[in-house]
Amino acid sequence: MQHLIRTSDFSKEEILDIFADAREFLKSKPNEILKGKIIVTLFFENSTRTRSSFEIAAKRLGAEVVSLDVGTSSASKGETIYDTVANINAMNPDAIVVRHSECGLPESLKGFVECPIINAGDGRHSHPTQALLDLFTIYEHYNGETEGKKIAIVGDVRNSRVAGSNRRLLPRFGIEVNLVAPDCFKYESDDFKQYNNIREIIDELDIIMSLRSQLERHNLTYFESLNEYAKDYCITNELVGDRDIILLHPGPVNRNIDISDEMLKDPRTKVLTQVTNGVAIRAAVLKKLILK
Ligand code: NCD
Repeated sequence: MQHLIRTSDFSKEEILDIFADAREFLKSKPNEILKGKIIVTLFFENSTRTRSSFEIAAKRLGAEVVSLDVGTSSASKGETIYDTVANINAMNPDAIVVRHSECGLPESLKGFVECPIINAGDGRHSHPTQALLDLFTIYEHYNGETEGKKIAIVGDVRNSRVAGSNRRLLPRFGIEVNLVAPDCFKYESDDFKQYNNIREIIDELDIIMSLRSQLERHNLTYFESLNEYAKDYCITNELVGDRDIILLHPGPVNRNIDISDEMLKDPRTKVLTQVTNGVAIRAAVLKKLILK
């Protein structure tokens, strides 16, 4: 049995197989590949697109979904998350999708279950399905020619699990990762080139990934306001100009803080393509882990 806690749980070959399935799912009608399977989603943190993306992916493959409303579950009666998960496991689900604010929590659940655990985001650590769908969006745009492409991940790279997963995954496909952030959001490592201002490298870039400031993980005392931050980090048409660059963002987008209204409408902005691809990638991941 295989879990998906971080992208390194999958080999490059397995990732390419997931992409092949995702490509098929984008073309095909809903099917019954996972008919009779039950998937539990357990979200201890807010989510709009990731949870619905998993649920729609599961339903497209004919599976049933049980979404635990954690606010009204036994967690509020004092049960530990380990006991909650052991009890859900005792009901024999086919996969458990979990999001939690604590780094490492999905990993620590592995010993309590007999079905795959899929990490839908743990604190600032990992968000593997997001990184897979980001890479898939890039991979499809460049027809698989990702080798040598350069990306700037811009914004709160230190507190973002999306950045955490992408900076580990993208280099495996030959993509050079650059980080652009104010000092307070910089990542403590020499493994990547880090810049304060995107204008320093914009001419070299193929891809920009904009991030939301993770205000739930810190309070933005470093800046006078988000508007102050946006002066340097908002991706605008004026900044991108006529460059041949694609722009990604995992959502939710803070308009005119992360990306300008006008740039959101630009065809180079792939935010909604990412959302569409996300359903297909999650369907492929569910298929792989459940039918193994
Ligand atoms: C991201 C997350 O939750 O980490 N969103 C998502 O899953 N699409 C990014 C964010 O919240 O900023």
